[in-house]
Amino acid sequence: MTKLSVNINKIATLRNARGGNVPDVVQTAIACERFGAQGITVHPRPDGRHIRYSDVRQLRKQVKTEFNIEGYPTDDFIELVLEVKPEQVTLVPDPPEALTSNAGWDTTKHRDFLRHTVERFKSANIRVSIFIGPDVEMIEAASKTGTDRVELYTEPYALDYPKNRLAAVSPFMAAAEAANKFGLGVNAGHDLSLENLEWFAKNVPHLEEVSIGHALICDALWYGLENTIQMYLRKLNP
Ligand code: PXP
Repeated sequence: MTKLSVNINKIATLRNARGGNVPDVVQTAIACERFGAQGITVHPRPDGRHIRYSDVRQLRKQVKTEFNIEGYPTDDFIELVLEVKPEQVTLVPDPPEALTSNAGWDTTKHRDFLRHTVERFKSANIRVSIFIGPDVEMIEAASKTGTDRVELYTEPYALDYPKNRLAAVSPFMAAAEAANKFGLGVNAGHDLSLENLEWFAKNVPHLEEVSIGHALICDALWYGLENTIQMYLRKLNP
């Protein structure tokens, strides 16, 4: 069964637009879990423009499913993750000012840095995932960093899906097979939606978890959070 981890960054963006604490990110995370989400994902950025480090600390006390923290491993980020001890940390290569993650790691170029970083988290018993494009060479290099999983960067899939869904998913099928062969677990995320999720989950083998934020929170405006989470769960595991 593939798990759904809800990325609640957008809830923090909405809250920050007004100051104050509405909507409350911790209450939202608790509700997502009650409605069936099997994980909560956050991506704190150095400027705190959506999820803040203080949110991450509060969330740790309340999240009962799998807590996944994503981010570029700056010293501050590493310190936060080691303090909070989530079930999973996902390393992304995006610079602090990036609007959202827009590429996977070059695991060949950054292998030593990644290996060193992975080791720090693993020695604290935190599962590590590396955000990566569907590129077999990068996946093989990722397997040499000691990471437990890779998270496949699905924006290219989402872009190509409306044009040719088989061509869109094929590189991800091959990437997931390769990851499995190299002993890595497979997560996926970015721009997955009610429209494109079922086809992805049906075709990509070994898929352990997807993390979904933007589309799911937008859908919740129309269908409500509980219905929306249930709809995503049905797409994932029909
Ligand atoms: N995975 C990673 C590494 C991300 O950075 C993001 C966006 O924060 C997501 C998944 C979720 O993407 P989306 O918000 O498009 O569902």
